[in-house]
Amino acid sequence: MFLQNFYRLSILFLGLAILFNAVSKPLQSNVDTLFTGSARSPRILLLTAHPDDECLFFAPTLTVLLSQAIGHDTNKIPQVYSLCLSVGDADGLGDVRKEELGRSLNVLGVEEGKRWILDQPDLKDNITVYWSAESIANALRPFVIENDITTILTFDYEGISSHPNHQSLPHGVVHLINSLAKDSIQHSPRVFALITVPLIHKYVGPLSAALAKADVAFTALLQQFGNMPSNPIGAARVPVFVAGISEYRTALRAMLQHGSQLVWFRWLYVAFSRYMWVNEWLEIVPVTHTAAAGIPSPAFSI
Ligand SMILES: *[C@@H]1O[C@H](CO)[C@@H](O)[C@H](O)[C@H]1NC(C)=O
Repeated sequence: MFLQNFYRLSILFLGLAILFNAVSKPLQSNVDTLFTGSARSPRILLLTAHPDDECLFFAPTLTVLLSQAIGHDTNKIPQVYSLCLSVGDADGLGDVRKEELGRSLNVLGVEEGKRWILDQPDLKDNITVYWSAESIANALRPFVIENDITTILTFDYEGISSHPNHQSLPHGVVHLINSLAKDSIQHSPRVFALITVPLIHKYVGPLSAALAKADVAFTALLQQFGNMPSNPIGAARVPVFVAGISEYRTALRAMLQHGSQLVWFRWLYVAFSRYMWVNEWLEIVPVTHTAAAGIPSPAFSI
């Protein structure tokens, strides 16, 4: 009896230890995919719709990219910029939320002078409104050109939470890339969209961190021992960021700066959401852009 319980307990502790070990350290995979095509050091712009998007959805990418724990090629230390297109004033809290975003970006490590927030009549926080691609492109354009942005990160066409403001962003970015190509502005940035996962995977929090790491390790193993080419034709190399415990805590501290948003259900979100732990990216390649630039498409349209 005693021994049986002892074995059960040991197995439980072993399981917990493996899970803890799996989630404790950050991990990145295929992240150089975000940067390739440019000899310069990467200048990455995160484009969001509302203050707190940067914590609720993009924190694993920001914290791991900015983490000292991850070794970067010294020529390629990424510069990270943030542009939020609205002050999030659907509830009349725009002024407060603007301040909260500044404090959150302080915690996440995006430097002053590399972050902006807009408050325009054509880009208002509204859960029933799609923003026009042209308005987004016009708003985004000067920041991309002046800062020589090499990579834009934003929502995908499903927008993670199906908020129409989120869903509008990739359309706006594609609009901008096409107009930059038309004006023959060199070095159009590459665009990556945060992949919306099926609902069933969305709220398994730390478990998704462990699973994402297992997936990365398994793929690497297959490449090493199997005959799988490291970049098979037809398969995109998906950049993946997985937060460790320390990165997750940073994201939590950043979320705490958004005091006006900390209603009870948001606590459930930060406890269980996959996006507090794992970010996976898919490149969006505007068709006319690659045709105009005359370079072979390095990845796949979505
Ligand atoms: C959102 O947009 C709809 C439709 O244009 C409008 O009726 C509503 O008042 C707007 N809500 C807010 C909070 O501005």
